Amino acid sequence: MHIRKKKWARPELAACPFYEENGEKRMGHWREAFPHPERPLQLEMGCGKGVSTAQMVAANPEINYVVVDISADVLGDTRRNIVRACEGHPENVWILSADICYIDRFFDQADGPERIYISFCNPWSERPKHEKRRLTHPRQLVQYRRMLREGGEIWFKTDDDPLFEDSLAYFLLCGFEPVYLTRDLAASGFAPNYISEHEQKYMDQGVPIKFGIFRMTALDPGFDPTRFRMTPGLRKRTLKLMKEPTR
Ligand SMILES: C[S@@+](CC[C@H](N)C(=O)[O-])C[C@H]1O[C@@H](n2cnc3c(N)ncnc32)[C@H](O)[C@@H]1O
Repeated sequence: MHIRKKKWARPELAACPFYEENGEKRMGHWREAFPHPERPLQLEMGCGKGVSTAQMVAANPEINYVVVDISADVLGDTRRNIVRACEGHPENVWILSADICYIDRFFDQADGPERIYISFCNPWSERPKHEKRRLTHPRQLVQYRRMLREGGEIWFKTDDDPLFEDSLAYFLLCGFEPVYLTRDLAASGFAPNYISEHEQKYMDQGVPIKFGIFRMTALDPGFDPTRFRMTPGLRKRTLKLMKEPTR
């Protein structure tokens, strides 16, 4: 994705009371960063310009959010969109600049988010060797497991069929069971659905959005994510799951 440089983004973020550039120092203490630490904590990985983030944050003031992206240029837009939707400085969100590939340097079990959103992450579907860069790859899922609260969930949306199919296998392998699955989110009637920038783009093109909610259960103790390879058997099991009706 090409990201245009924005001169105003960094100065605006530097002055923003809910922007964090050095997230490592908050590891294990994210809940305390909010006026109401007892409220549920949810993370968004790769929030982009925050079009859906802003709607979600404004609509759910009783939920605390940390929204993460690697690009300060897009986070400048995220900040503006949130301020616009919340009509000022919201108390229930932090914008975090961080590389999600190393997310376990920023959050641990003491943070214990109940939910993680991953929407329209880069599919990396063209070359098998790039698969590891996906935000749903087992290398990532084991990191999310270490921070998620017991029974925590990952809400995953994409337009990309290979990414969705492979991700189903990743989730199953890493001890995440699907509790909701659809290959056409708009037709499924699932609500509320906050529509992101990329989601709108694909909907306008007539591409059905694939969506799943995956709940964390026990992990096979023998599973080693560093040796993970997609096998024909795994793909077959995944495709069988894909044919099941929406739950
Ligand atoms: C295709 S955009 C999707 C944005 C938004 N979720 C949406 O649905 O419109 C992917 C976003 O993920 C971010 N991203 C990709 N890899 C990342 C990483 N390793 N760490 C943090 N952010 C990342 C990119 O900067 C980009 O903003």
